[in-house]
Amino acid sequence: MRTGRALTLGPMTPQPNPQVGAAVKAADRKHVFHSWSAQELIDPLAVAGAEGSYFWDYDGNRYLDFTSGLVYTNIGYQHPKVVAAIQEQAAKMTTFAPAFAVESRSEAARLIAERTPGDLDKIFFTNGGADAVEHALRMARLHTGRPKVLSAYRSYHGGTQQAINVTGDPRRWASDSGTAGVVRFWAPYLYRSRFYAQNEEQECARALEHLETTIQFEGPETIAAIILETVPGTAGIMLPPAGYLAGVRELCDRYGIVFVLDEVMAGFGRTGEWFAADLYDVTPDLLTFAKGVNSGYVPLGGVAISGAIADTFGKRPYPGGLTYSGHPLACAAAVATINVMEEEGIVAHAAKLGADVVGPALRELAERHPSVGEVRGVGMFWALDLVRDRETREPLVPYNAAGEANAPMAAFAAAAKANGLWPFVNMNRTHVVPPLNVSEAEIKEGLAALDAALTAADAHTT
Ligand SMILES: Cc1ncc(COP(=O)(O)O)c(C=O)c1O
Repeated sequence: MRTGRALTLGPMTPQPNPQVGAAVKAADRKHVFHSWSAQELIDPLAVAGAEGSYFWDYDGNRYLDFTSGLVYTNIGYQHPKVVAAIQEQAAKMTTFAPAFAVESRSEAARLIAERTPGDLDKIFFTNGGADAVEHALRMARLHTGRPKVLSAYRSYHGGTQQAINVTGDPRRWASDSGTAGVVRFWAPYLYRSRFYAQNEEQECARALEHLETTIQFEGPETIAAIILETVPGTAGIMLPPAGYLAGVRELCDRYGIVFVLDEVMAGFGRTGEWFAADLYDVTPDLLTFAKGVNSGYVPLGGVAISGAIADTFGKRPYPGGLTYSGHPLACAAAVATINVMEEEGIVAHAAKLGADVVGPALRELAERHPSVGEVRGVGMFWALDLVRDRETREPLVPYNAAGEANAPMAAFAAAAKANGLWPFVNMNRTHVVPPLNVSEAEIKEGLAALDAALTAADAHTT
């Protein structure tokens, strides 16, 4: 099936070249082992190029990317200033070992620390998000001398052993050691409340009561950290109710627990603030980041560390490190990305476009499409919770559905692609998470395609 919009040739758009596409695909199928996949059951699209909010294949089909890759190309593809900064850094100093002070690393750390909330003024650089989580939890355990970590169901924290063990989604199950000192709890999610709540206030109060009871029954002196995504991303973009994160902060203070906010997805402008923590005026003890820090142009992640935790490792060595910690090329990309985001007002743009265009348009779609159960989000971070039945809120597909059971979501995704939109799909949800600097016209084009795709989802409602 041919999908996507016919290619509009721009300055960087090459001519279609199906022969090259076929060779790329053949080598991929023969030699590339893909993440999270049954290798013989996948059919990866061969991508010829990308620019801004679009990418295209070798057959002349172009897609508007409502996924930002894996929610990381916050400034879109191939931003010329960031590409130039990477080229300049490559010419000057491609790499250098982490024990040295290096200009792009120092500058990236300064720019990040100046934007993170409160006293999160020291930056430990990693290669991505999962290892940032690994190190944050190690720091918390060493700082407190306690073994356990509390994490939420409906969360994702990364694919490495500790990060996947604190994850609350089915990707954990195959790697769940069951002994990693992790206890899971329910965070607020009013639309599918575990607490029989009728409104945000009840959900907030009951979720906090549940968390405190969990802490008490686990034994506060055994708990090193509570880790939460400030706004859970892959799990469904559930904005916490007012007061929840402040309440968790207060519980952490009361019981001597380190509060870790995972901003790998929500950070660097996604919510229309530099960090989602800014939306709630809360400061964690550790904040993990990756993705948007340099739009993934070169792999980079890290942990922003509070003064108290940094002091723990003032005279005592921190027992952890990476060969590529603070890689100069990745850090140069971060410096350029943050500067571009400032110069072009990208964070404010995301906030405004979300409030003025995306939110109202999605709510309007919800009125017309019975498959839309709930619309929620902020900035360029939106979810549509798709349902078979609005009354019962039965999800359009069952939790962790695969194969035939997932057919309604597959039909939705195929319809979106046929209309030139590459949608983010997870379980019974689609997320609208385009680059933060997507234009209003592009958003409207994407929303029109989404409208058509939702008609395919409507066909599966009862
Ligand atoms: C909130 C969160 N934490 C951690 C990770 C893991 O990041 P990475 O894939 O860079 O290891 C992700 C990735 O999607 C994420 O969304």
